[in-house]
Amino acid sequence: MHTILVIHGPNLNLLGTREPEIYGSATLEDINARLAQLARELRVETRARQSNSEGEIVSLIHDATTWADALLINAGAYTHTSIAIPDAIQGVRLPAVEVHLSNIYAREAFRHHSHLSRVCVGQICGFGPNSYLLGLRALADFLAHTYPE
Ligand code: DQA
Repeated sequence: MHTILVIHGPNLNLLGTREPEIYGSATLEDINARLAQLARELRVETRARQSNSEGEIVSLIHDATTWADALLINAGAYTHTSIAIPDAIQGVRLPAVEVHLSNIYAREAFRHHSHLSRVCVGQICGFGPNSYLLGLRALADFLAHTYPE
């Protein structure tokens, strides 16, 4: 069974109360529960972690090489600023899918560029919590085809 590390970046611990008009009312726990349920249907395993710190996210990615087959990542604002996170993804050579709750291309100009996209298999944004579920489906399918068990 393929195992996927789900990484939630900075401020995503506030989901539910954080700008609900942009990010919706679902909490991080709701999203993780929906991911775990879908993972069972897709016969993959998800383990979710949230961090507000760029360095900690880099370390989570490094540690994942010992147990994970892929990454599902919403790097929050680090998407637009971090070089270390895409470097880590590239360094460990784990396939990654980037997700965002909001449509970053329909928002402020500083959100239009993602440093992560270059090192990811693909990106899904704009569907609220469904972005994570669509991302998980895409990643499970990618793993099944690329690394059949
Ligand atoms: C986000 C979009 C980012 O621009 C923002 O900084 C976030 C959340 C999203 O999921 O829509 O923190 O990644």
